[in-house]
Amino acid sequence: MSVRLRLTLSYAGFILLAGALLLAVVWVFLLRYVPDAVLIASDPPGRDPGLFVPNRSDLLRAFAPRAAAASAFLLVFGLAGGWFLAGRMLAPLARITDATRMAASGSLSHRIRLPGREDEFRELADAFDGMLARLEAHVAEQRRFAANASHELRTPLTVTQTLLDVARRDPDRDTGQLVDRLHAVNTWAIDLTEALLLLTRADQRSFPRGHVDLSLVAEEATETLLPLAEGRGLTIETSGDIAPTMGSHPLLLQMTTNLLHNAIVHNFPGQGAVWVRTGARGRSVTLTVGNTGEELAPRLVSTLAEPFRRGTGRIHADHVGVGLGLAIVTSITEAHDGTLTVTPRAGDGLIVTVQLPAAPS
Ligand SMILES: Nc1ncnc2c1ncn2[C@@H]1O[C@H](COP(=O)(O)OP(=O)(O)O)[C@@H](O)[C@H]1O
Ligand SMILES: [Mg+2]
Repeated sequence: MSVRLRLTLSYAGFILLAGALLLAVVWVFLLRYVPDAVLIASDPPGRDPGLFVPNRSDLLRAFAPRAAAASAFLLVFGLAGGWFLAGRMLAPLARITDATRMAASGSLSHRIRLPGREDEFRELADAFDGMLARLEAHVAEQRRFAANASHELRTPLTVTQTLLDVARRDPDRDTGQLVDRLHAVNTWAIDLTEALLLLTRADQRSFPRGHVDLSLVAEEATETLLPLAEGRGLTIETSGDIAPTMGSHPLLLQMTTNLLHNAIVHNFPGQGAVWVRTGARGRSVTLTVGNTGEELAPRLVSTLAEPFRRGTGRIHADHVGVGLGLAIVTSITEAHDGTLTVTPRAGDGLIVTVQLPAAPS
């Protein structure tokens, strides 16, 4: 039975009940003033008073058909009115259902935009519209990401193809050089694929968590990247308090390594500095990585964490980044319920801060 029919029957039932009660009250009221049988004392006796005084059965005969007619009218009125009112009440639901069906069939751009007063239906419709908008943005972002990732993955394959074509046209060329270049391009493709896999893993949030001290993680990452920094004539300074949090050690190490790697490669070779600080404040712990380097416009900085975004647009041959470093950092941070802040330093360089919830002591 549809809700509309159920509502209609309830309306009609209530109206009928109210009508019956009213008729009952009227009946009782009438009975109080009408005796069972009428005895009229004639004065003087024997004379017909010429007056008709109804008794109870007369009354019943007169009242019952009218009461039945009124009840029948109330029933018809209740059913018709109930059907109409229930239809009007439920109309927004039909719109919401239509929108849900459209969304289910893949059309996420449709919105309910329910007009009228703020009521429960309007609240539901607005919440639904909000959900659709977020879903649409999310799907668009995923599509963009897939398109960008395919494009990025194609690049090393295209370079390989070109190298092979050249080698085929000129068989006498030095194969050692060709192998070296193919190896470098292949490494790049592997790095890119691994970065993409890492991003998926962090996004899924399905990793084991344990106690991790960010200050130890920072030391570990510094140790790994110290040769790279020294090769570029940079200094790395690591300092700060213990910063205990709950999370995945490998992912947090990856996050710190990415930040440190960026701080080293996007820096002034020979004269730059990198510093890593850790700390605990209230219920959160922070990891800050700062570095000197080219000045970055604030507008540019706000987009750097997007996948495949490379700040300067130039790709330096010696540290071809795949453009996923900060996207991975963002993903890992979010998977740990933390926040990432990227701020340009006045004059030069960048400061990146990761804030994570502190581990319960
Ligand atoms: N510490 C930093 N200092 C200056 N620029 C940075 C820093 N970290 C990131 N960037 C800029 O942000 C861009 C995106 O960084 P990232 O996502 O790690 O990609 P990639 O390093 O592979 O280019 C970089 O190309 C660079 O221009
Ligand atoms: Mg990077």
